[in-house]
This record gives sequence, C-alpha cells and structure tokens, in this order.
Amino acid sequence: MLIPVLALGGLGAIAVMGVVGAFIITGWLGQPVPVLGFEQTFNQPIDFPHTVHASLNQLDRVAADGQPMEGLGLNCTYCHRTVTTQANAGVPPVSFCATCHGVIGAEDNPQLAKLRDAAGIVGDDGASPINWKRVTRLPDSVRFVHEPHIRFLTQNPSQIKGVTDGVAQGAAGTCSTCHGNVASMKQVEQVEPLKMGQCVDCHRDNNAPTTCSACHY
Ligand code: HEC
Ligand code: HEC
Ligand code: HEC
Ligand code: HEC
Ligand code: HEC
Repeated sequence: MLIPVLALGGLGAIAVMGVVGAFIITGWLGQPVPVLGFEQTFNQPIDFPHTVHASLNQLDRVAADGQPMEGLGLNCTYCHRTVTTQANAGVPPVSFCATCHGVIGAEDNPQLAKLRDAAGIVGDDGASPINWKRVTRLPDSVRFVHEPHIRFLTQNPSQIKGVTDGVAQGAAGTCSTCHGNVASMKQVEQVEPLKMGQCVDCHRDNNAPTTCSACHY
C-alpha cells in the first residue's frame, strides 16, 4: 500500500519539477523549450498551409471539386514583400489574404471562416489583425537584416543550402538556406539552429563583418 503511494508521489513530484523547469527555461529564454533538438513550431490562430500556397508539387489532398490538388506556387516574395529590401521579411495583413479569400475556398471551411471573420467579410465586429506567432526569433540583443543575405545568396547560388518545393528562381530560391523547405510545410517549423557559430562561419568565409557590433546592439 505504502510503496505504490510513494511511487505515485515521486512521479507527481517529478512531473511538477518538470513543469516548473520548463516554465523557468521558457521564461528565461523567452522562447518555448525545443523538445526535439531545435525544431520548433506553433499552432497559429489560423492553420495557414504553405504547401497549398507556395508549393508547386502535387499535394496529399483533394480540391473542392474532388480532383487531386497541386500547390499554387505563389512566390515567397508575393507575401513576404519586404524581404529583398528591408530587415524584416514581413507577413501580409489579413486584407491581403482577403483579396483571394473573399471568394476563393469553401464557405464551410472552418479555417477560412476564421480568416473571413478577421477580415470583416463575415460576422459583425469588423476587421481585426491576426496575431501570428513568431517561429524564428533571435534574442533581442542580436541584429539581423534580410536584404544583404538575399542579395548575397542570389549572386552566389553555390552558397545556397537546401531546396524548395516552390519557385526556386531569384530571391525565393535562397530562403531554404536558413528556413528549410518551407513550401513543403503544413505548419512552419524552425529547422536550422541559427546559432551564432553558423552566422559567424558564413561571415568569415565570405568576407562579411565578424566584429561583435555587426550583429549585436
Ligand atoms: C492568390 C490567392 C490566394 C491568396 C493571396 C491567399 N490564398 Fe489561401 N488559398 C488559396 C487557394 C486557391 C486555396 C485552396 C482552396 C481550396 O481548398 O479549394 C487556399 C486555401 C487556404 C486555406 C485552407 C487550407 C485548407 O487546408 O483547407 C487557408 C486557411 C488559407 N488559404 C489561408 C490564407 C491566408 C491566411 C492568406 C493570407 C496570408 C491566404 N490564404 C492568401 C488562394 C490564396
Ligand atoms: C500566401 C502568402 C504566403 C506565401 C506565398 C508564403 N508565405 Fe510564408 N508566411 C505567410 C504567413 C501568413 C505566415 C505566418 C503564419 C505561419 O507561420 O504559418 C508565414 C510565415 C513564414 C515563416 C515563419 C516566420 C516566423 O515566424 O519565423 C517563414 C520562414 C516563411 N513564411 C517563409 C516562406 C517561404 C520561404 C515562402 C516561399 C517558399 C513563403 N513563406 C511563402 C504567408 C505566405
Ligand atoms: C541568412 C539566413 C536567412 C535567409 C537567407 C532568410 N532568412 Fe528569414 N529569417 C532569418 C532569421 C535569423 C530570422 C529571425 C530574425 C529576428 O528574429 O530578428 C528570420 C525571420 C523571418 C521571418 C519572420 C520575421 C520577419 O522578418 O518578418 C520571415 C517571414 C522570413 N524570415 C522569411 C524569409 C523569406 C521569405 C526568405 C527568402 C526570400 C528568408 N526569410 C531568407 C534568417 C534568414
Ligand atoms: C549564407 C551565409 C550567411 C549566413 C548563414 C549569415 N550571414 Fe549575415 N551576411 C552574409 C554576407 C555575405 C553579408 C554581407 C553582404 C553584403 O552586404 O555584401 C552579411 C551581412 C550581415 C549583416 C549586415 C552587416 C553590415 O553591417 O553590413 C548582418 C547584421 C548579418 N549579416 C547578420 C547575420 C546573422 C545574425 C546571422 C545568423 C542568424 C547571419 N548573418 C547569417 C552571409 C551570411
Ligand atoms: C554574424 C553575426 C554575429 C557576430 C559577428 C557575433 N555574434 Fe554573438 N550572437 C549571434 C547570434 C545570432 C546569437 C544568438 C544565438 C546564439 O545564442 O547563438 C548570438 C549570441 C551571443 C551571446 C549570447 C547572449 C545572447 O545575446 O543571447 C553572446 C554573449 C555573444 N553572442 C557575444 C558575441 C561577441 C563577444 C561577439 C564578437 C566577438 C559576437 N557575439 C559576434 C550573432 C553574432
């Protein structure tokens, strides 16, 4: 009688310690605990599939008419508009999604219903932004700028890592280097560690700045 109770108590204590530990680590890093290596992902307010929008391949699903479906093959820069010119890649506002989804996609699709509600197309509380959760985030002390990287990789395709199921020409062909094959992801996950060593190695090999102040505020 006593032994099982003790065992259960022990398990409970370990579980509590685990939860507290995870909480501390989460708070400390300001990021969720990457349980399996560094791969991390989040459930988003709307299940936005990069596959459907960005891939050029056959998908493992059927379209509304029952026919096998291919991805739309939209260019990454069609939505991430500032990636070739600015620090941030940018995620489009819901009004941008609504240019298609005002009409495209089944009325009874629950994810699109959430989108149309946020865009103010259905419901009566007007438009409200979608609070997408950030997947790839460096600590606040680190500076990262997309523009020079897209330029460098477009000009030096031999430095590009990985492949994409989507458009591979121009800027869109460079993203896999740091983000993996996003066009194949139903849910975006971080697949590259993007630790300091990786940044500095590439900078050293390509005459990019390696002084601390290049990347740190
Ligand atoms: C160029 C047009 C276009 C734009 C812009 C667009 N989509 Fe789509 N989207 C589509 C098409 C086409 C489908 C497939 C509809 C179907 O299943 O019949 C789709 C499907 C979806 C689905 C349903 C996926 C599923 O598995 O059923 C969601 C959710 C979605 N889009 C969200 C978004 C969001 C969020 C944005 C803005 C960031 C966006 N879309 C922008 C064309 C677009
Ligand atoms: C139809 C618009 C659309 C297209 C096309 C698109 N994206 Fe996205 N992307 C989004 C939206 C909306 C989000 C935020 C929701 C999410 O994380 O899924 C996002 C998120 C991301 C993220 C995660 C950002 C973070 O929080 O760290 C990456 C990386 C990304 N996209 C890369 C790409 C790449 C690479 C391509 C081309 C292969 C691409 N996207 C094409 C709309 C798009
Ligand atoms: C050299 C590595 C690298 C390349 C190449 C790269 N990214 Fe990123 N990306 C990052 C890093 C690092 C972050 C996080 C930045 C931060 O937290 O300040 C990020 C963040 C993002 C985000 C979320 C935040 C934002 O900037 O809006 C999106 C979306 C994104 N990248 C899309 C893309 C797309 C699309 C491409 C290709 C055109 C691309 N990235 C190419 C490293 C890269
Ligand atoms: C694939 C190689 C590569 C990777 C990986 C890479 N960089 Fe770079 N980065 C470069 C090159 C090359 C330049 C210089 C481009 C130019 O302007 O000619 C650069 C420029 C920069 C600049 C602008 C510096 C300035 O003052 O002009 C910053 C900031 C930066 N990188 C930060 C980062 C961070 C942070 C990471 C890691 C998350 C990273 N980079 C990963 C190749 C890379
Ligand atoms: C090419 C970009 C780059 C350069 C150059 C660079 N760092 Fe970093 N550093 C990063 C990135 C990205 C991180 C966050 C990821 C990680 O923890 O590895 C980081 C993290 C750190 C951290 C951990 C604390 C934190 O902010 O999370 C310290 C300390 C640090 N760097 C010190 C330095 C010093 C000192 C130098 C100069 C000798 C330097 N770094 C140069 C990119 C860089």
